[in-house]
This record gives sequence, structure tokens and C-alpha cells, in this order.
Amino acid sequence: MYILGIDTSCDDTSIAILEIKNLKLEILSNVVSSQVKLHAKYGGVYPFLAKREHQKNLPVVLKKTTKNIDISKIDLIGVTIGPGLEPCLWQGINFAKDLAEKLNKPIVPVNHIEAHILANFLDYQTRQRNLFPAICLVVSGGHTQLILMRDIGKYRLIGETRDDAAGECFDKVARILGLGYPGGPAIAVTVANLKPKTYNLKPKLPRPMIYQKNYDFSFSGLKTAVLYDFRSRSQKIKKSKIYIQEMAAEVQQAIIDVLIYKTIKAAKDFRVKSIILGGGVAANDELRRQFALNLKSEILNLKFLVPPKIFCTDNAAMVAATACFHQEDYYLPTTLPPSAGPYLKNWQKIKANASLRI
Ligand code: KG4
Ligand code: ZN
Repeated sequence: MYILGIDTSCDDTSIAILEIKNLKLEILSNVVSSQVKLHAKYGGVYPFLAKREHQKNLPVVLKKTTKNIDISKIDLIGVTIGPGLEPCLWQGINFAKDLAEKLNKPIVPVNHIEAHILANFLDYQTRQRNLFPAICLVVSGGHTQLILMRDIGKYRLIGETRDDAAGECFDKVARILGLGYPGGPAIAVTVANLKPKTYNLKPKLPRPMIYQKNYDFSFSGLKTAVLYDFRSRSQKIKKSKIYIQEMAAEVQQAIIDVLIYKTIKAAKDFRVKSIILGGGVAANDELRRQFALNLKSEILNLKFLVPPKIFCTDNAAMVAATACFHQEDYYLPTTLPPSAGPYLKNWQKIKANASLRI
């Protein structure tokens, strides 16, 4: 069975095709067309500009995705319906509806946050690993959430950011420091080039809400603290490579400290068996390395899952996988059922929901 996934939730236009064969998922193609260059000029994503780009890109991306695949073989379409930028979401949904009409195949609506979590399950065998209950940390440009997961499809949101998301903080700080957009990778590269021996300015930032007895986050104060420090420096210092590198290192570490501390605390409190990461910020090498290191030293015997980097940032393979997991009761192993499952009867009525919750 072939599943086509579509994601247009933010500034990446992505389409992927997965095949389910012998109870295994195989990624046949996964194309992501990034609008980064377009939005870099503005230092952030402009929804209506992004919408126009999606409209332009979708047919091109579909062509690339199906280059070596017979499109009539598609059995099912998964499309992100939220959360995300509403005009962008609609582009993907309307495109999915046209395609569904043409191919006479149903659509499964997909929650983007769940898709970030299920990016860890692209290897179909993962679900056999006795992982649940698990604590999921979804860290992206739009979200920072801690989610208690009891199984695929069974989630409880236990905490989230009260203001900016971690990725948003990376993006805003990078803009202050003149490092470009998207800020997360720009900051990570800047920090990687810092030679520890040359540390001398030592800017110090807070670790917001780290010891509070809840599972929420707050990152907007961090950005403000960077701004105040930046303004207080002389022109010469704030333009110096060493200041920019040290500030980038400190902000990255402040974000990592809070994310790791609160996630491990939640894992202990809920006595889970694993920690699962997802979202663009989970592509951060230092976050991945320090998470693994902390879990080793904590002797909690927790399993630690994080997707390959290309499946941390937005992609449609995770959307197709999510659609697959939601339909498996109806579709697996390889044949279509005589009557579609409850999701599928009314797929024509699928709507965008910019603030969809898990
Ligand atoms: O999941 P994603 O691609 O889109 C959303 O759903 O928001 O996440 C994008 C965010 C951006 O804020 C970007 O700066 C951040 O993920 N990001 C990173 C890294 N790669 C992407 N942050 C830190 N380190 C990275 N290597
Ligand atoms: Zn995302």
C-alpha cells in the first residue's frame, strides 16, 4: 500500500510517499522545498508570502516526488491540517482534495505535532520496543510542548511554552546577533566554531522557569536578556566575532539546560520508559549529545529516541507515517477495506485548524 503525505504548515513545501510492505514502512521519496531564502530577507516567515510560494511549489514538488512512482498506485493521502499558519495549511489541504478527487482516494487529516512525534516511528519496528508510557518533547519554531504518550494516538499535553517557542527564541536571538534565518542552525554553527580557550566575555543568561514545579517553559525573557546585553556593549564588542560566538553559545546552552532538566523531571515524575524528541530544534547536535549524556548519568534506564536530523525539521514523510498509523486498523496489511474508517467518510469536509491541539 502507498501513502502520500503533504505538509505546508509553515515555510517548507513537502510531499512524501511511503510504502507499507510486509509490515514495514519504506520511504520511497521525500521532497522538501524550503522557502528559507525568501524569508531570510525578513528574518521570519510571512504567512501570505509563504502561502503564495506553497501554491507555486506544490505541483513542482509533486512532480519530483512521483518522478519514479506511478501516482495511480497511491491508496491514501495524509495532509497536515494544523497547527500552523492558516493560509499555508489551506494550500496543502486544497491540493490534497484535488488529488484525492482525481485519484478517487481518501484523505486522513494529520496533526503536525503528532507527526513530529511519529517521525520517530518511520522505522516501523520502533513500536515493538516497549516504549510506553513515554515523555515526548516537541521543540520547533512554533511549539515547545511536553506530552505524555501512552501509545500511538494516546497523548496528554502536560506542559508547554507560555510565550515564545524554543526555535522562535533561536530565530530571534540570531536576528539580534546578525546571524541570519533560520536562527537555530546559524547559532549551532557559530557555537561549533568557538574555541573554548578563547572564552573571555562570558555573557550570562537566565534559565527561565527551570526549577518551577510545572512542565511549562518561557523563552521570551531569554531573548530580551540577550537584547539588553547586546545594547549594553560597545559597538566594537557587539560586532566582534568573539562576543557573537560567546552569546550564541550561552543562549544555546540556556535553552538546552531548561529543555533537558524539565523533560527529565517529567520523565521521573511520570515514571516513563522512554523520552522521545521531535521538531526542528531536535536537530541540534548539542541538544542531542547532552540529552544522551544526561540520561546515561541519571541511571534511569530510559530509552531515548530522536529522529534522524532530516526528519526533525518539517517533512511530509512524518505526515504520511502518521496517516498510516491512524488507518492501520482499517487498511493493514495491504488491501483497502470495503468501507472506509470513520476518518475517511467525510474527507471532503476537512478544514485547516491553525491552533489544533494534540
Ligand atoms: O519543526 P520545524 O522545521 O518547523 C516548525 O514546525 O516550526 O522547526 C523549525 C525551527 C526553527 O525555529 C529553526 O531555527 C529550528 O527549528 N532549528 C534548529 C536547528 N535546526 C532547525 N534549532 C536549533 N538547532 C538546529 N540545528
Ligand atoms: Zn514542524
